[in-house]
Amino acid sequence: MNTISRKFGVCCLLLLLTAVTQTAQPQPEGGTSRALQVPEDGHRVLRANKNAPPQPAEPQVFQGYPDAPEFTVVDRVSELNFFPCIGCHSVLPLNTELRKLMAPHPAGLEHGNGQYWCLDCHSVENRNALRTLNGTEVSFDEAHLVCGQCHHDVQKDFYYGGHGKRVSGWQEPREVYGCTHCHDPHDPAVKPRAPEAPPPVRRGLGRSLREAER
Ligand code: HEC
Ligand code: HEC
Ligand code: HEC
Ligand code: HEC
Repeated sequence: MNTISRKFGVCCLLLLLTAVTQTAQPQPEGGTSRALQVPEDGHRVLRANKNAPPQPAEPQVFQGYPDAPEFTVVDRVSELNFFPCIGCHSVLPLNTELRKLMAPHPAGLEHGNGQYWCLDCHSVENRNALRTLNGTEVSFDEAHLVCGQCHHDVQKDFYYGGHGKRVSGWQEPREVYGCTHCHDPHDPAVKPRAPEAPPPVRRGLGRSLREAER
């Protein structure tokens, strides 16, 4: 009984000694096996992150197409019938109510299934200018900036030459027709057209072809 308890006591002493010497051993510093941190907030770090976690990005702001070939747009202001608009509108009271307009203006707006009103595109403060949906003034000569807010796919094609038309040849400078050269902004859809009659065929040729088919 006595010997057993003595043996037990020696064992305990040995265990205690090994424990003390192990904790006293110096930890390798900057070695390959880095000790995992035990954070205080309870989240266990599973591995030391070599790369910093991705930072939240700044919100992206559309900057146009800086790599698109440069171009100028054919003037539109000189084509307008009612310009300058402030000739009348500087004295007319502003009426933002949705209504059927009297002459001289278009009574209907066949664009966007009735979702929009004149003042979504026309500046209120300066009737001589267009506006974007966030209120930035745009010249009538740069209507593509207004249209492109909603038709961004077409606008991109327009910048790179896939939609619309170039005035002259392929040499610089690049001059293109603006959107409103082809589309009426108040009724922009391209209307179906009856096909033209086929060109005349040289006399005698049409008949002989028909005979050959028989
Ligand atoms: C000959 C005079 C005259 C000229 C020039 C004129 N307007 Fe107007 N405009 C009017 C009148 C009158 C009304 C109000 C019509 C109504 O209430 O039925 C009006 C109404 C409007 C409205 C509807 C909103 C509002 O303020 O009542 C818009 C948008 C508008 N004009 C845009 C233009 C633009 C853009 C031009 C230039 C390209 C222009 N106008 C040039 C006479 C004119
Ligand atoms: C989708 C945008 C948009 C909307 C909505 C819109 N317009 Fe326009 N409007 C334009 C653009 C772009 C032009 C320039 C047309 C051009 O270059 O031939 C224009 C031109 C005009 C002109 C000048 C036409 C001329 O030949 O002098 C008048 C007047 C006008 N708009 C009135 C109105 C009125 C009134 C409304 C509402 C019933 C309206 N617009 C709605 C974009 C718009
Ligand atoms: C505020 C948004 C908005 C703006 C700005 C705008 N559009 Fe539209 N547009 C629409 C919507 C919505 C439709 C209807 C789409 C549909 O019916 O498929 C439409 C329809 C059209 C269509 C007919 C498409 C088809 O498939 O038949 C053309 C062409 C067009 N717009 C050209 C223009 C031009 C040119 C401008 C600039 C003067 C312009 N749009 C400005 C929203 C806009
Ligand atoms: C040189 C003439 C021309 C110019 C400039 C032009 N378009 Fe078009 N656009 C057309 C024709 C023609 C069609 C019909 C094509 C078809 O039906 O296949 C069309 C079709 C469209 C359509 C409807 C078809 C689709 O792909 O959704 C939209 C929207 C449109 N154009 C918007 C614009 C805008 C916005 C601009 C300016 C950035 C512009 N267009 C400049 C001639 C033009």
